[in-house]
Amino acid sequence: MSDTTFTPRVFSGIQPSGGLTLGNYLGAIKRFVDMQNEGAYETVYCMVDLHAITVWQDPGDLAHNTRELAAGFIASGIDPEKSILINQSQVPEHAQLAWIFNTVARMGWMQRMTQFKDKAGKNTQNASLGLFAYPALMAADILIYHATHVPVGDDQKQHLELTRDIATKFNHDYGVDFFPLTEPVIEGAATRVMSLRDGSKKMSKSDPSDASRINMTDDADTIAKKIRKAKTDPDALPSEVKGLEDRPEARNLVNIYAALADMTVEQVLADHGGAQFGAFKPALVDLAVSKLSPISTEMSRLMADTAEIDRVLARGAEQARNITAPILKQTYDIVGMVSG
Ligand code: TYM
Repeated sequence: MSDTTFTPRVFSGIQPSGGLTLGNYLGAIKRFVDMQNEGAYETVYCMVDLHAITVWQDPGDLAHNTRELAAGFIASGIDPEKSILINQSQVPEHAQLAWIFNTVARMGWMQRMTQFKDKAGKNTQNASLGLFAYPALMAADILIYHATHVPVGDDQKQHLELTRDIATKFNHDYGVDFFPLTEPVIEGAATRVMSLRDGSKKMSKSDPSDASRINMTDDADTIAKKIRKAKTDPDALPSEVKGLEDRPEARNLVNIYAALADMTVEQVLADHGGAQFGAFKPALVDLAVSKLSPISTEMSRLMADTAEIDRVLARGAEQARNITAPILKQTYDIVGMVSG
């Protein structure tokens, strides 16, 4: 472990590849807001557009989705006065450090990444080189801020382990104690929100079935319909957490309830244990609509003035570069790059 003391700093990112889901909100954004408001950290949150283009994005859609994601962050409670909110490509040091990390990371490490295997599918020869190098850019996103904590959903765990491996190898190879070993923060009831149609699959924007997910732009009727139709089993809710074992769909709805209500799963079961889904689902609909509708309304309001969003991002990039430019300069010095 590193002896150097690093400023407590949080970094996390989301791809602007279209359609924020309840999984992104509960697994990531809501946690970002909590960490911002704890006041114990500097917080930097990012739309990772350079990551998004590792699979094809229509240029018009990418620009729209980047602004919509910024609106989603702000509408959910990310305050640009308290957090630095940026678009990745506007802070060039991310990509510059990523190149250095491409020389640190080993082919074998990247080949083990399950997200690459999932996204590349069977035809890995046809995947972009960027998709393969994706985790090195992610490590650069984090380490160009010397970030100490990274809140993410469960699916990003392997990438964060790789980030630590890259930091360790860089520090070792160059004989420095320069990059921190960043801590993943994978906490709460909703680190892995599952599909509403299949409790064994992650809720995802890329699932072909729209009924499998709640989108942050869904209106109240759509949210109600999707929750009412969500797959469940015929049994009543248990009173103890143990009773959710082998009931993935029931567990998922209880986890979603707990995360939305800021309760523990135990508390939810203390209140709803013994209830049939016929009674629990309407309670979940009311809760979800009361928490999510104000966010989608605010997102639409913000999207009516994209010039304001662009101003927020320009200011965020400026603030970010005050941190990233000196860290890149020091990295170049360590590596032996001659600079003026
Ligand atoms: P992305 O864009 O796929 O997802 C963004 C965040 O949402 C979380 N998430 C979920 N959490 C719970 N349940 C789900 N069903 C669910 N679906 C998504 C993800 O875990 C993630 O936290 N590689 C990252 C983006 C990234 C990044 C970074 C993250 C790039 N650089 C640096 C942290 C730090 C990604 O693809 O997230």
